[in-house]
Amino acid sequence: MNRRQFLTSSASILAGAGILPLASARNAFAQTGTPAQRLAMPPILDTRATGRLALQAQPGRTSFGDGPAVVTAGFNQSYLGPTIVMQNGELATEVTNALAEPVSTHWHGLLAPGSHDGGPHQPIDPGATWRPPLNIAQDPATLWYHSHIHERTAEQVYFGLAGVIHVTDGQDDARGLPSGYGVDDLTLVLQDRRFDRAGRMVYEPSMMDVMHGFLGNRMQINGQSGATAVVPEGIVRLRLLNGSNARIYTLFFDDTRPMHLVATDAGFLPAPIAIETLRLAPGERAEILVDFSAGPAPVLMSDPGQAYGVLQFATDGTLPSRITRLPERLDGILEDLIGAEVTTRQVSLDMGMGGMMMGGGFAINGSPYDMRRIDFEVALGSVERWHIRSSMVAHPFHVHGVRFRVVTENGGPPLPENTGWKDTLLVPGEAEILARFDQPASAETPFMFHCHILEHEDAGMMGQFTVT
Ligand code: C2O
Ligand code: CU
Ligand code: CU
Repeated sequence: MNRRQFLTSSASILAGAGILPLASARNAFAQTGTPAQRLAMPPILDTRATGRLALQAQPGRTSFGDGPAVVTAGFNQSYLGPTIVMQNGELATEVTNALAEPVSTHWHGLLAPGSHDGGPHQPIDPGATWRPPLNIAQDPATLWYHSHIHERTAEQVYFGLAGVIHVTDGQDDARGLPSGYGVDDLTLVLQDRRFDRAGRMVYEPSMMDVMHGFLGNRMQINGQSGATAVVPEGIVRLRLLNGSNARIYTLFFDDTRPMHLVATDAGFLPAPIAIETLRLAPGERAEILVDFSAGPAPVLMSDPGQAYGVLQFATDGTLPSRITRLPERLDGILEDLIGAEVTTRQVSLDMGMGGMMMGGGFAINGSPYDMRRIDFEVALGSVERWHIRSSMVAHPFHVHGVRFRVVTENGGPPLPENTGWKDTLLVPGEAEILARFDQPASAETPFMFHCHILEHEDAGMMGQFTVT
């Protein structure tokens, strides 16, 4: 099987249940005769020297692979957006909307007040510019930004209104972490997209797609499919964002080499944790270190048991390899927050087949999202314990304006990948989280909490809260 057949067959196989047998994926990659296209990083937009960030949401036309061009959208380009590098301090921000419909720009994971959060209460009308005076004050982390218009988030993100943010303090050298953008520090946006027989990227969710979340039949990394990530023969940092609408990955390398987890959604761990699989739900990020110094370069796969290929790696001995051993410690500081909580709340993520006729019954605590209803009122500076429960399927739960710790998952300790600071957590059952609410949000510009399966969010599995 050559690469083209692999792509075609993976497309059709993925269309069914997301399955591609491990062996054929591996062989298909290995037998590729022609050198594959090299994976490109998103362009970088470094705001550190200027203290300014200018984004424009704009229309584009993009063809994927050799399929016909389709209408897409992006920030400062035709599809997806640049990787924004920011540091702590003031950031004069402007986002202009050059599209024909309202968009918003939510800074997912940024600790900013509700008025600057870019959620559904801050639409940017066509032709308008939004100027939130951001003041960055948080630990280094990999965040992201995306549109967040109620009932339009899924489609707008799908067609490209999303990008990655690096909050950095310039201390990665001291930490012994790779930091060469696109060389030994790769930013990888994982997204599945659905292509029709003509090779056109499509988004036409059926009621079943809404129930399960819209799944694609082709993997795209940074908007590219079938590309190979070329890395030096040393330690490489992978910043992974699950930017998919609904697909949940359980990532692993086909040669079972370990992944050394160094950061979760909202910052570094105290020390790397070696894991063999990494679960990453929509909205979640993870940073891992991988040692590419030995052996043939592996394939990053997902879903052990019914595995499919996500990204092929290749090594290039001429690339500079600056980091040759794993750091023993990082400087992530975790607060456990246990015992500090003043309030406990129940959050039930509701959906039901019974309610399918009435739109699927997507709700939180029995109420579908209503922009005019405030669901919780949180005291500024207080710590709360939220007990989250999923119905029907595992829902990735996200809270704006905070970072949280996971206390329990299904009554036990959290998975390794959930032991650091988080802002999004897959809940296959139930979980308890603790958060301190340090950012204010008024009733006019409240924070959201919601399922990050974007079809569920748009269908009503979202609530909002004030912090005063
Ligand atoms: Cu990434 Cu409310 O979203
Ligand atoms: Cu968010
Ligand atoms: Cu959900």
